[in-house]
Amino acid sequence: MTTPRTALITGASAGIGATFARHLAARGYQLLLVARRTDRLQELAAELASQHDGRRYEVFAADLTDPAAPKAIMDYADAQGLDIDVLINNAGLSGKTAFADTPWDTLAGEIQLMVTAQTELAHLVIPGMKERRWGRIVNLSSVAAFAPPAASLLYTGIKSYVLNISQALDMELKPHGIHVTALCPGFTRTEFHDVMGTRDKANRLPRILWQQPEAVVAEGWNAVQNGKPVCVPGLVNKISAVAMKPLPVRLGYLAGRTLNPFKNS
Ligand SMILES: NC(=O)c1ccc[n+]([C@@H]2O[C@H](COP(=O)([O-])OP(=O)(O)OC[C@H]3O[C@@H](n4cnc5c(N)ncnc54)[C@H](OP(=O)(O)O)[C@@H]3O)[C@@H](O)[C@H]2O)c1
Repeated sequence: MTTPRTALITGASAGIGATFARHLAARGYQLLLVARRTDRLQELAAELASQHDGRRYEVFAADLTDPAAPKAIMDYADAQGLDIDVLINNAGLSGKTAFADTPWDTLAGEIQLMVTAQTELAHLVIPGMKERRWGRIVNLSSVAAFAPPAASLLYTGIKSYVLNISQALDMELKPHGIHVTALCPGFTRTEFHDVMGTRDKANRLPRILWQQPEAVVAEGWNAVQNGKPVCVPGLVNKISAVAMKPLPVRLGYLAGRTLNPFKNS
């Protein structure tokens, strides 16, 4: 019997990450689930173990704003004898307060979580994937990566970085059997806006803009299977991404200033 492939999923305690866990478990993957809320991860691991016999669902508590976290996760995977075949770089959040009013530690944490830790985890798993000549990396970007700059938030810039680096890595690694996909959802029904503190404003947005995490993950994983470097799930998001991308700089700036529903003062 061949050993099942293993996926490492960050931010698996909620939303898109937990949905990826269920999606991949149903497809025979073993999982290493990472987030800060261990109780949530353990509940999910128990749920999956009750549904799928003979698979390993490991849990590792990590705060990815801690620079030591990516190495600690990989040390744990090594100690457990888990080769990481799939990396779902998903953990993330958006700040809400204006840049100048936000303590530097908070901003540095966002960069560490969604830029440095994400990039370092990819760097740590790639050598093993190269050796085995097979690997899949999904980096959670956002349709915001195509949008005009959002006033005062790091989020748009961070997700643009993720979109850019994912394509560069895909180009470099495809010859080694490793596909990298930037998954760029739009508004998705998860805990994201509760954490951001924008639930009331988010609830006022038209329903047509929203997707369920199951739809995002199904389309995203399909794109991964097909070796696509970028996936914008859902028709409305696809249209938005195409419409926003070629905006001239001045128009993009104006749109960023006027259209952002979560703009802070
Ligand atoms: N929902 C949307 O509308 C939307 C749209 C576009 C892109 N995205 C992206 O999709 C990804 C997943 O978001 P979501 O919508 O599923 O949000 P969510 O429901 O709030 O889930 C976020 C996940 O990230 C984890 N996380 C946050 N900070 C962490 C930290 N310091 N260390 C470790 N884990 C951390 C959380 O776990 P713990 O709190 O337990 O640590 C949780 O599991 C994010 O990268 C987000 O930017 C979301």
